[in-house]
Amino acid sequence: MSGPIVEVIILPTPDDVGRVAAATIASVVVAEPTAVIGLATGSSPQCIYTDLHRRVSAGEIDFARARGFALDEYVGIPLEHPESYASVITRDVVEPLGFSPSRVRVPDGRAADIESAAKEYDGAIRAAGGIDVQILGIGANGHIGFNEPTSSFASRTRIKTLAPSTREANARFFDSLDEVPTHCMTQGLGTILEAGRLVLVAQGSAKAAAVAAAVEGPLSAFVPGSALQLHAHATVVVDEEAAAGLLLADHYRYTYASKPEWQRLS
Ligand code: F6R
Repeated sequence: MSGPIVEVIILPTPDDVGRVAAATIASVVVAEPTAVIGLATGSSPQCIYTDLHRRVSAGEIDFARARGFALDEYVGIPLEHPESYASVITRDVVEPLGFSPSRVRVPDGRAADIESAAKEYDGAIRAAGGIDVQILGIGANGHIGFNEPTSSFASRTRIKTLAPSTREANARFFDSLDEVPTHCMTQGLGTILEAGRLVLVAQGSAKAAAVAAAVEGPLSAFVPGSALQLHAHATVVVDEEAAAGLLLADHYRYTYASKPEWQRLS
């Protein structure tokens, strides 16, 4: 890494994506066991959590003193619903990685006063000293967190309406499309940009256009993922299929292959 850059790492398989992205998270937590991790849900980061679980089991890393803040939560489903992000974070992150439950927060999508709850969430992130490393996926429409197209780059944690295409994409987690909530509470793009480091992962051809637009397209609220370009230390780790739309793919491969061993994480 040489100064502020959006680093793009193209790897053969989704497992490779998980291993290399997890190495970044692990390096942060090994250096600072009380580090604050921003946690994404959905399919993309599962490979990261799987690899981190392997490292925890091998005794390489310990999350007991780390803190976590989820990126987002649905509004309109009960806390106990198996697909509430509170449930997903407990099942996929807190339990397997051994976080202390009291040190991990998820936005309160059930709050009577949603606006205050959103403000309070941003305040809690600040009070924790800010997020050291934020894990991100990207929607096929370019969203990060649930900041749907035309979200302001200055946005803070707030309630958002989910795009119809996002509800359709997430219907696979529910019994029917009707059950997918229409609203969510999400960290804003401004909130995400305050994290010390961003690690975005994407796999599969359905994400190729969004990845290319986020990394190589113009800065635009139309592609919320393009906010990454405003961050001083963003790493995008993708498999070959998700890299298919990148004009400078060969350049990214060359740069990564030329990386000195001491800068390389695995
Ligand atoms: C999840 C989140 C979303 C997802 C995105 C991709 O917390 O904030 O931005 O990362 O919708 O979802 P998957 O990974 O399921 O394709």
